[in-house]
Amino acid sequence: MTMPASSRVEITPDLEICRILNGMWQVSGGHGSIDPKSAVEEMFSYHEAGFTTWDLADHYGPAEDFVGAFRREFLIRYGAERLPEIRAFTKWVPHPGRMTRRIVEDAVALSLSRMGVDRLDLLQFHWWDYTDPGYLDALRHLDDLQHEGKIRHLALTNFDTERARIIADHGIRIVSNQVQYSLVDRRPEKRMAGFCRDNGISLLTYGTLLGGLLSEKYLGRSEPARSELGTASLRKYKNMIDAWGGWPLFQQLLAVLKQIADKHEVSIANIGVRYILDRPAVAGVIVGARLGVSQHIAGNTRVFAFALDSSDLSLIEPVLSQSRDLMQVIGDCGDEYRQP
Ligand SMILES: NC(=O)c1ccc[n+]([C@@H]2O[C@H](COP(=O)([O-])OP(=O)(O)OC[C@H]3O[C@@H](n4cnc5c(N)ncnc54)[C@H](OP(=O)(O)O)[C@@H]3O)[C@@H](O)[C@H]2O)c1
Repeated sequence: MTMPASSRVEITPDLEICRILNGMWQVSGGHGSIDPKSAVEEMFSYHEAGFTTWDLADHYGPAEDFVGAFRREFLIRYGAERLPEIRAFTKWVPHPGRMTRRIVEDAVALSLSRMGVDRLDLLQFHWWDYTDPGYLDALRHLDDLQHEGKIRHLALTNFDTERARIIADHGIRIVSNQVQYSLVDRRPEKRMAGFCRDNGISLLTYGTLLGGLLSEKYLGRSEPARSELGTASLRKYKNMIDAWGGWPLFQQLLAVLKQIADKHEVSIANIGVRYILDRPAVAGVIVGARLGVSQHIAGNTRVFAFALDSSDLSLIEPVLSQSRDLMQVIGDCGDEYRQP
């Protein structure tokens, strides 16, 4: 491994992760054509560079199968004793409906078998509709499965602060919540981060690089038309930039980030990830990986080679203060998935 110790953190005493997780939504379609063989081979490049933690989901196309294939090949190359180095965090995103023990158990069994593990390291649970309190039933069943050894730790994704508190009040121990968090979308710091800090919950963030918009590639560029944005991720976060303050303000942000990046001899993306990693309650930033299509392994290693100082932050803040308050525009974490 080539990365410093600061690249790693324990989100629980028995679960150490790389603070940059490899996001696998990008293998699910809509991000370029993925060849399974080269994708799995590419997973070794990430792992060998120290990026040993994966974020995936039951509905990210072949992602769980890729983890299964990667583990099988890893076993052949490195032996069983090194298998625990691989951390793979999946999600369960159930269709709305009654949450029986059978439904929950079957979903967990499917992920276990696709990923080729006896126990899920972390199961991140998503819920579409808060008017249906069935999320508590689902979590109770997941809690039972955890006690039966099928899940190491329970986690959430896209839950808001109000429901995360209700879950905690029901005595269900959650170790992390995965939410959108970036220089553009700072909603988590309004309520969620404080709640997490007070309750020993870590934040894992996505959208931190805005699908790649937060990079030199878009600095000084005129506003891209939707048809010019080649991935689902770019289109998703271009919408977020529009809601936040629009392309001219985003260009101001990129210009300031470039100035800071040049000072530290790193990239705009490095500044974006470092900024979020330094925020309260944040354990890790998930960076999407288009396996076999493009990769930024060497570039992202540099996140752990510098620190932002107060003069950097004082350059960024005046730009951010001109934006709209996304808490007002969208709502708390995850509310973008629950708009009428
Ligand atoms: N829970 C949820 O609802 C949810 C929602 C969305 C995403 N996620 C998770 O978060 C992951 C991240 O996805 P995202 O959509 O948020 O994308 P993202 O991480 O904001 O952007 C990923 C893209 O950023 C570019 N990039 C990465 N490192 C770079 C660097 N050092 N310099 C320049 N560009 C760089 C790459 O673009 P190129 O490939 O074009 O080079 C990459 O494809 C997903 O895979 C998934 O695991 C979760």
